[in-house]
Amino acid sequence: MPTTPNAQRPTPNTPTPQHLNTSTPLREEALQLGISLTSLPHHVAVIMDGNGRWAKKKGLGRLLGHREGYKTLRGVLLAASELGIRYLTVYAFSAENWRRPAEEVAGLMKLIETAARDELRLMHKNNVRVQVAGRMDEVPEGLRRALEHGIETTKDNTGITFTLAVNYGGRAEIVDAVKSIVASGVPVEQITEESISAHLYNPAQPDPDLMIRTAGEMRWSNFLIWQSAYCELVVTDVTWPEFGPNDLLQAVAVYQRRTRKFGATV
Ligand code: FPP
Repeated sequence: MPTTPNAQRPTPNTPTPQHLNTSTPLREEALQLGISLTSLPHHVAVIMDGNGRWAKKKGLGRLLGHREGYKTLRGVLLAASELGIRYLTVYAFSAENWRRPAEEVAGLMKLIETAARDELRLMHKNNVRVQVAGRMDEVPEGLRRALEHGIETTKDNTGITFTLAVNYGGRAEIVDAVKSIVASGVPVEQITEESISAHLYNPAQPDPDLMIRTAGEMRWSNFLIWQSAYCELVVTDVTWPEFGPNDLLQAVAVYQRRTRKFGATV
């Protein structure tokens, strides 16, 4: 069982949403798997990998894999919200993904924009607060506007915070934090881990407790590298389009069986 939800940065004292006091089929299933609903990971990050492999297996084009991945994401977001997870951050497009064929890049940008517009009503209805991470000034204007509209519309929602990492790179985020610190004139002796954390894209968010990676690769791929210093990594062989609420529960169960030491002894 994890001992401390987040040793590096404090978990915001957010009230438990009312609906979490009620039992739902997913929460019942979680209890049956031995999951404690009172020590869930506060922040879950997901590297949604394997869309291309899933499509190839089915004899389909890569963009159809991403489209199926979008459907998966909708289900996982609703499941995470229903379960009581407070923050979900997903890697939708990395700063390195620009190296993919132009057609795939354009298709992904359009897909994310469409999703941001089409899902807004559902997210708002479910009290989801939308945020983004990444260099937004470099993404197509239509996508940037759709994301900004989503953030503005949902900013007062009190349910799960859903962060889309788009044109995101962990090293780029650290570079941007350092630039912002230097620009604000902070004296060298006042530069600390806390001050760097305070200049990241979403400084109010707690560090992730659990990072899930689908499709079997055992690496971080430049995702939240500063914030995930003490995060538990759970890798599943299931590709992202095949991943479902039950796989989320399995990952949470694995997480809860780990002992988090944050460099100390138990
Ligand atoms: C990695 O799979 C996945 C991506 C680079 C994109 C993730 C995007 C989605 C899940 C689609 C929609 C997202 C939103 C927000 C609507 P891959 O293509 O690298 O798979 P492979 O390694 O099997 O080729």
